[in-house]
Amino acid sequence: MHVTRLRVASVRRLEAVELLPAPGINLITGDNGAGKTSLLEALHLLAYGRSFRGRVRDGLIRTGAEAVEVFAEWQELTPPRTRKAGLRHMGQRWEGRLDGESVSQLGELCAALAVVTFEPGSHALVTGGGEPRRRLIDWGLFHVEQAEGGQNFLRLWRRYARALKQRNQLLKARIRDGQLDAWDHELAEAGEPLTRRRQHYVEQLEPELQRVADQLIPSLGRPSLGFQPGWSREQLSLADALLVARDRDLAHGHTSVGPHRADWRIDYPVLPGREALSRGQAKLTALSILLAQAEHHARVSGEWPVVALDDLSSELDRNHQGRVLRRLLASGAQVFITGTEPPSALAQLDAAPRVFHVEHGTLAPATNG
Ligand SMILES: Nc1ncnc2c1ncn2[C@@H]1O[C@H](COP(=O)(O)OP(=O)(O)OP(=O)(O)O)[C@@H](O)[C@H]1O
Ligand SMILES: [Mg+2]
Repeated sequence: MHVTRLRVASVRRLEAVELLPAPGINLITGDNGAGKTSLLEALHLLAYGRSFRGRVRDGLIRTGAEAVEVFAEWQELTPPRTRKAGLRHMGQRWEGRLDGESVSQLGELCAALAVVTFEPGSHALVTGGGEPRRRLIDWGLFHVEQAEGGQNFLRLWRRYARALKQRNQLLKARIRDGQLDAWDHELAEAGEPLTRRRQHYVEQLEPELQRVADQLIPSLGRPSLGFQPGWSREQLSLADALLVARDRDLAHGHTSVGPHRADWRIDYPVLPGREALSRGQAKLTALSILLAQAEHHARVSGEWPVVALDDLSSELDRNHQGRVLRRLLASGAQVFITGTEPPSALAQLDAAPRVFHVEHGTLAPATNG
C-alpha cells in the first residue's frame, strides 16, 4: 500500500501541512526541531492509535490547539482500491473515520493502515523490556488475521485482557473463592490459543529475520528467534501454572504468569547475549526485525506496509544505510525517510526520492511534491 495524501494539523510544532508522497522513496529534510519526526508520528498515530513518543495527551497536541488531526489517503494493490482515514485526537477523546464512516474502535484504523516505523527509540525492541516486543508480535498477528478475514486473535486478546484484569482485582482484594477459579479457567481458555498463535508467528518470523539479517548484518552470523510464552509451558498447562502461582499471586496482588508476560529474544551464534551488541548493532537488529515483519506482512497479505525510517543517517553508517535502502528499493515499498541531510547512501542508488523540506513546522512550498 502507499499513501497518496497525508494531511497533518497541530501535531507538535506542525500547524497544517499536506504532502502528496511518491509511491517509492520519500525524503523529509529540515533542521533540528523543524517537525520531520512529527510527520512520521502523525502517520504512526493513524496506524497504531498512539505515537512512538508516548500518548497523545503527553504533548503531541500543538500548544494552544485542541486536537491533533491526521488524514491519509492510500492506494491498495490487492484488490486495487483507494482508502482514506482520518483521526482527530483530543488526548482523552478521539473521533475517527474510515472510508467515510465513523469508527468506534481505534483498532479499525490500525487494521486498515499498515505502517512499520523505525526510529531512534526502536533499539528498545532489542535492549528494553518485553512490552514493545509483545506488541510487535501482536501487531503482526492482528494484521495477518485481518488479511485472512478473521478476528479470532483480537477476540482472544480482548478476552484474555479482561480476564486478567478481573483476576488481578480479586488478587488485590485477597479474595480466594470460586470466582478466582472461574477467572483462572477463562485465562487459560483464552491464553492457550493466544499463545499457540504467538508461537506460530515467531516461528514464521524467524526465517524472514534470517534473510534480512544475512543482508544487513552478515558479520554476526544467522540469528535465531526464541519465543517465551510467559510461563513454563513445557512443564505446565497455563491452568496449572496459574494454580501453582496462586499463593504467590495472592501475596503480591497480581498475576505473575501467563501470556501477558510473553516475550521473545534474538540470539546470534557468535555473541553471548544481547548485552554484547554494540549500540549500532542493536539498532540494526531492531531494524532487521521490523523489516522481517514488513516482509512477512507483504507475503501474507500481498501488500507491503508503509515503511517509515526516522533519522536513518544518524542511526546507521553509510554502508549499512545502503544495504537497507537497496533492500527497500527492490521491494517496491513506499518509504519515508527523515534526516537533517539526505542520507549519503541515497545518492549512490538509482532512487530519485521525492523530497519534502520542513521549516519551522511548515512545508517549504518549492519542494512540496
Ligand atoms: N506540543 C507542542 N506544541 C508546540 N511545539 C512542540 C510541541 N511539542 C514539541 N514541539 C516542538 O515541535 C518540534 C518537534 O519537532 P520534531 O521532533 O518533529 O523535529 P525534527 O525535525 O524531527 O528534529 P530533529 O532533527 O531534531 O529530530 C520541536 O521544535 C519541538 O520543540
Ligand atoms: Mg527528529
